[in-house]
Amino acid sequence: MIDKALFKLPGARSILKRLVGLYVLQAVLIIGQALFLTAVLVGLWHGHSWQSQGRGILLFALCFVLRQIVNWWAGSKLSRYARSAAQSLRGRLLKKVFALGPHLTQDQGTGHLVTLTLDGISNIEQYIELMFSKVLVMMIVPVVILLLSFYLNWVCALIMLAVYPLIIIFMILLGNAALDKAKTQFGVFTKLSNNFLDSLRGIDVLKYVGLSKRYSKSIFNSSERFRHSTMDVLKIAMLSTFALDFFTTLSIAILAVYLGYGLIQARLTLFPSLAILILAPEYFKPIRNFASDFHATLNGKNSFAAINKILSQPDPVEPKLALHPWSSNDDLQLQNVSFAYEHGAQIAPVNTTIHGLAKVGIVGMSGSGKTTLINMIAGFLKPRAGQFVIQGHPVAEMNLAQWRSQIIYIPQSPYVFTASLRDNVAFYTPGVSDERVKEAIHVVGLDDLVAELPDGINTMIGSGKRVLSGGQAQRIALARAFLDRKRRILIFDEPTAHLDIETELELKKRMLPLMKDRLVIFATHRLHWMHQMDYILVMNHGRLVEQGTEAALMADNGYYRQLVDQMRGGSTNVQ
Ligand SMILES: Nc1ncnc2c1ncn2[C@@H]1O[C@H](COP(=O)(O)OP(=O)(O)OP(=O)(O)O)[C@@H](O)[C@H]1O
Ligand SMILES: [Mg+2]
Repeated sequence: MIDKALFKLPGARSILKRLVGLYVLQAVLIIGQALFLTAVLVGLWHGHSWQSQGRGILLFALCFVLRQIVNWWAGSKLSRYARSAAQSLRGRLLKKVFALGPHLTQDQGTGHLVTLTLDGISNIEQYIELMFSKVLVMMIVPVVILLLSFYLNWVCALIMLAVYPLIIIFMILLGNAALDKAKTQFGVFTKLSNNFLDSLRGIDVLKYVGLSKRYSKSIFNSSERFRHSTMDVLKIAMLSTFALDFFTTLSIAILAVYLGYGLIQARLTLFPSLAILILAPEYFKPIRNFASDFHATLNGKNSFAAINKILSQPDPVEPKLALHPWSSNDDLQLQNVSFAYEHGAQIAPVNTTIHGLAKVGIVGMSGSGKTTLINMIAGFLKPRAGQFVIQGHPVAEMNLAQWRSQIIYIPQSPYVFTASLRDNVAFYTPGVSDERVKEAIHVVGLDDLVAELPDGINTMIGSGKRVLSGGQAQRIALARAFLDRKRRILIFDEPTAHLDIETELELKKRMLPLMKDRLVIFATHRLHWMHQMDYILVMNHGRLVEQGTEAALMADNGYYRQLVDQMRGGSTNVQ
């Protein structure tokens, strides 16, 4: 019912200790309040005047006010703690997401991670608050009241004691059913958020191919499933509230009947009987409160478990290497480096050496594994087997800060941040002057775009702002590379995939100078780039089938030659 990890949150123990003190005080005040009220009522019953009960009334009022103050104080302490614990959890989660990198988002789905960091954390805040307050109160207040009841009338105390386990058994039974339903609901919610985000991202394609209606239907169906699962949780929650109310009311009624008979037969005296009758609802109140809020905490419990699962994944350990800035004498060897996606596609063991400031082309048909190979070299994917040897150091993967800090990576679809054009271009070099940014923009041929933008390079671009075409996004990525002279390694993944051949050739002229004095790894299926490459890796169906200089590959008359022949007449002959 309670996630034990809750008690391992930083600061949980100290707040719990303080809360225990406050709730014990609260229990004492509840008892004081009941006893003084009983004393006043009994006094009045025996015909004493209001005036003579003044002291009792005052003490009752004092207990009442103090109880409210203690309640408020404990509540505000707890909500402050819950807020800060939830915030620190969000911080840790985000840190972990960045540490684990792209494979986590692939694993979990971006939509799910977004809802987890936003709604999930607020649910956890509520969960912490309810669990720490209600559970503690439930463990303290009824015990104190029961002890006093034994002193006042042991038969009544026994009745109260006997009913309690019954209520708890019911609560556990219904709670478990609710938990199962809530787990289903959480799963449906995860699918809904991923599905929704996917559809938002692909909305232009969906509209274009006329599938948007069918997709909106699929979102409608997921949200319907979510609605049904939510109703299932609520039904059980209602049922459990009803069952508990029934049991507690019944037991208070039994007490009242027993006490009434006792009084009529003069077996009992008024004071203890009335005190117990006043205290009985207070005795059952904590468990009723807990049960009625229990379903509200289930989402928090599930989010908490989901976040803890992510947090418990080990951080990638970075070997301590002393890499120096990449130079013409350095080597990167791939020794039997292989990869397998969870859903089947594989890269067979690759063996090659990338040397110094070479320009290395990676070619192959679509789906042959170019991006996968590039992503392993760039450190985004961890090979399943094999190793890299970088500057003489063997490493299992290239996810090395010292390697990443030397790379400029231009992916197949570069990401344009929602920021000004200037900040997007100066991504690797935030401190450069506006003049240099404008120069870079000019070099990659984005002057026309700047002329169109209302605030020039300070115009906000990206999602939700001025959206750019695929080619413009790639030019921005190139401008980033142009500005950064320090990074000596350029990794390109189809940087001209979105461009028509004329634009590509125009851009090629601007890109070639960027490649000078740098190690370049360039994946593409446009073969005309190979004329500028010193060494070529040829991929086919996840295998490195050939490697060598272009001349050697052409002379070999193998798969590369086949590719060239297939494309002859196309872009291959363009210089
Ligand atoms: N995240 C992934 N999960 C599972 N399989 C994947 C994933 N990404 C790629 N694949 C599969 O791995 C194989 C190689 O894909 P990859 O993207 O490396 O090819 P590519 O040569 O870059 O293709 P393209 O020229 O179209 O970019 C393909 O069969 C692809 O379907
Ligand atoms: Mg690719």
